Amino acid sequence: MANIILIGPPGAGKGTQAEMLKKKYNIPCISTGQILRNHLQQNTALGQECKQYIDKGQLVPDNVIVEILKDRLSEKDCHNGFLLDGFPRTLAQAQSLLSEGVEIQAILYINVVDEMIISRLSGRWMHAASGRTYHERFNPPNNPGHDDVTGEPLIQRSDDTQESIKNRLISFRKDTQPVIDYYKTHKNFLDVDGSETPEKVFATLTSFLETVLHP
Ligand code: AP5
Ligand code: MG
Repeated sequence: MANIILIGPPGAGKGTQAEMLKKKYNIPCISTGQILRNHLQQNTALGQECKQYIDKGQLVPDNVIVEILKDRLSEKDCHNGFLLDGFPRTLAQAQSLLSEGVEIQAILYINVVDEMIISRLSGRWMHAASGRTYHERFNPPNNPGHDDVTGEPLIQRSDDTQESIKNRLISFRKDTQPVIDYYKTHKNFLDVDGSETPEKVFATLTSFLETVLHP
């Protein structure tokens, strides 16, 4: 398999596509946001340290997140490829991959306009334990308010508030846009229109990945 980065603004559909790609390619999908939310839920020391940033929609400091990712990538299931959802989000984080000798075979940039982001995030519902994501209009669960797989109740994310969404967009433009510009020269960089349906976006991503995996 390959080492793949999914990048894009909040609400672009990174988590939605990661879940579909994980199923198709049987590849571990590492969402730094979900790792942090698990720490918040379990009220660990790390969770307590990061809560102030996450709830405000600000980035967690680079040194903290880089250590989290390094630990995760050292696990055995990552040795044959992985999908990163939400990392790197700063040039320093991208640099940390280079310093660790982590090669990236493809970068998938999901691109959506701001107006769409607000409507997607305000209607989002999530299964807390797995991070599985639904939308009350665009991708409703089979049984309203309940996860399709476990049947457990769905929740809304504590950072899907107007204030936090505004800050997440600001940090996306300031810190993450330069990372996208940096990766644009990579030979396997894909810019995909995330305003299409999840199925259409998925079809574009997978046909691109086929050319990367079987050149
Ligand atoms: P993170 O969890 O990564 O949040 P985010 O980047 O703001 O992105 P989202 O998860 O909100 O959106 P998504 O693109 O995954 O969209 P989704 O598929 O859910 O990070 C959270 C926080 O953690 C950060 O703010 C920061 O504090 C911290 N953090 C994490 N990583 C960090 C890092 N590397 N460095 C520093 N701090 C870090 O879709 C959204 C909604 O739209 C859903 O309801 C979905 O059903 C729906 N939808 C999806 N696709 C479509 C479609 N094609 N059409 C219609 N609806 C769709
Ligand atoms: Mg996500």
